[in-house]
Amino acid sequence: MLRLNTTNAFEFFKEEYVEEHANTAVGALIHILEEKPGFIRILGDRKLLESVRSHEEWLRCFDTMVVVGIGGSGLGNIAIRESLRPFNWNRLNRNMREGWLKLYVLDNVDPEGIAAVLDEIDFKSTLFNVISKSGGTTETIANYLVVRGMLETYGLDPRKHLIFTTDPEMGLLRSIAHSEGIRALEIPPDVGGRFSVLTAVGMLTALALGLNPEAFHEGGLSMLETCSFHDWKKNPAIQIALSHYLHYLEGRNISVMMAYSSRLLSLVDWYRQLWAESLGKRHARDGEEVRVGQTPVKALGVLDQHSQLQLYNEGPDDKVVTFLRLKRFSREIRIPHVHEEIESIDYLKSHKLSTLLNTELLGTLVSLVENHRPVLLLDFDELDERHLGMFFVLYELATALTGELLNINAYDQPGVERGKQVTKALMGKDRMEEERKRIKSKLEKYGLWEDTL
Ligand code: PA5
Repeated sequence: MLRLNTTNAFEFFKEEYVEEHANTAVGALIHILEEKPGFIRILGDRKLLESVRSHEEWLRCFDTMVVVGIGGSGLGNIAIRESLRPFNWNRLNRNMREGWLKLYVLDNVDPEGIAAVLDEIDFKSTLFNVISKSGGTTETIANYLVVRGMLETYGLDPRKHLIFTTDPEMGLLRSIAHSEGIRALEIPPDVGGRFSVLTAVGMLTALALGLNPEAFHEGGLSMLETCSFHDWKKNPAIQIALSHYLHYLEGRNISVMMAYSSRLLSLVDWYRQLWAESLGKRHARDGEEVRVGQTPVKALGVLDQHSQLQLYNEGPDDKVVTFLRLKRFSREIRIPHVHEEIESIDYLKSHKLSTLLNTELLGTLVSLVENHRPVLLLDFDELDERHLGMFFVLYELATALTGELLNINAYDQPGVERGKQVTKALMGKDRMEEERKRIKSKLEKYGLWEDTL
């Protein structure tokens, strides 16, 4: 089970005030469920799951899968690998992985990061899964070209080492797939990148890692059922959306998600993109300029107790903190009885490290509550496919619902377009010479123009 505790977060408000907004939230949720956006429609979709499963045997011919994809096409894959497989997975031999694949994600275009992965893999036994909904994202295409160039250098047939995950009809990747006969999986047109983890985008990765895609969907469907309750007190998606929305209205414009488990940390990265890109918007649906959004911040317990907590407790009262807690760890270490002679450390002996970790979570939580900082707690009884499916759907729904409360479109991202255009103009894209000149004069003004550009 995933259990959410929001008691403290609602204590800040009068009951009637919460009830009034809760009614609006319930109405908005009913509207979302009736509209059935793509990320809900695909849950349990047999065709989608079968299309992924149909590649199972072929996948097993490889030792490694490298995902090439960024943002919504990368983060879910990283989250699945890091939360459900051990950190040393890529260093385990094939037997220890029961024949399943190592997994790398090439998202950034940082030459050192890319080179490190390319140095490590054996191209002959590697499958490259190029994921892009639009099929034309600059970074993904650049990394694809790098990989493809190397396949050709090694004399390997690209059709035997590539699969594309992309729109069924549109975009560059789809047209290359058609013209060259490269295998391809579909991202449904009505599922946006950051909402796409439970499509083939994340599910082929799940399969490559020996996980069960169907179980992700079962978890997602059970969360959808829980989040269909009209009683908001039993509905975690409404509770997350409503608590964040009400605190946002009070000026708490930062949403910290603090994972007390390294395996849960990559979920926070996935959440960060979802919350930021969906809710940070300049215009309301009716076109009015509103400039809303809550900045998501990633934190790790216990590390950030020794880095960020001072600020959370005593700095500005502008944050809502959500703790992620894992109840059962897959490995355990007990603190041994050494240094019997030192009384001051007696309290640690024979305790498990997980007990210390989760006790520290409570220590942090209590300190925040005593400082009148709103907190939520999300418990994972376990970390498996079902729980991850639940988590993804819970936050997708909560994000969509918060978008409704803020009266913005949660599914677009107009604010990222300009940076992309500037990059293309500076990189010398055709028919952008005039734009390049304009950008040049701006950069010169700040002393940032370089002749190498
Ligand atoms: O959520 C989104 O739509 C974006 O963050 C995309 O996932 C990201 O830009 C990558 O896009 P694409 O999958 O088209 O390459």
